Amino acid sequence: MSRDNDAPTLYGIGLGPGDPDLVTRRAEELVKGLPVLMAPFVGGRSRAAEVVLEINPDATVVGFNAPMTRDPEERDREYGKAAATAEDLLREFDEVGMVTLGDPTLYSTVWHVVTRMRTEFNLELIPGIPAFLCCSARAGVPLTLDVGSCAIRTRSPEDEDLDAFEAIALYKPDPEGVARLLDAGYRVFLCRNLGWEGEEVVELKTEEDLEKIRGYLCTVIGIREES
Ligand SMILES: C[S@@+](CC[C@H](N)C(=O)[O-])C[C@H]1O[C@@H](n2cnc3c(N)ncnc32)[C@H](O)[C@@H]1O
Repeated sequence: MSRDNDAPTLYGIGLGPGDPDLVTRRAEELVKGLPVLMAPFVGGRSRAAEVVLEINPDATVVGFNAPMTRDPEERDREYGKAAATAEDLLREFDEVGMVTLGDPTLYSTVWHVVTRMRTEFNLELIPGIPAFLCCSARAGVPLTLDVGSCAIRTRSPEDEDLDAFEAIALYKPDPEGVARLLDAGYRVFLCRNLGWEGEEVVELKTEEDLEKIRGYLCTVIGIREES
């Protein structure tokens, strides 16, 4: 990406899954050093903002609403407002951070906002540990080995994924999609609130276990073990 030295800089900062110990040194440096940080709020709460304030209690955090909808008008309206706020802050401060859970290039609000910004700015992205990799680490299982491959999806696996991938990660999983993983013989792990209060990592084995899939910060991984 080309860099315009006269333009302000927006930092898209991946904070990892929500545990301050899993924040990179570069992200920590920016959270401690930038004059202002924008953070997405879902349903009135922002784990990303909480992580920022745990690292730097003096940080100035400006929240924005991250609507959990696929309605294009609502998305345009809410992310458009966040984009306008980011542009105002860049004019005022020249350097602004926008934090996200996990990584800023994976299902991240950062992208919804920056693609709606219309003024010139430099974008620097700081990678973070994505939820699905924290999931496999907490479950203590390898995602892939040798020539194996892994799919990352939201909600449900595609039909052609089943059997084609040794591992399938599902963001915002739906119980029916997870049932298909079980039926296809995958070992399935559910991870909730990784890295903070109420963290739960459980193996799902039966239909009844699917009731455990609830809440926003929920990720599932399915692992197909060689028999
Ligand atoms: C907007 S996406 C953000 C993904 C993030 N950028 C990443 O790299 O993992 C939000 C989804 O990520 C997953 N997620 C993020 N943080 C999580 C956590 N601490 N525990 C479990 N799942 C999490 C959940 O599936 C949640 O619905």
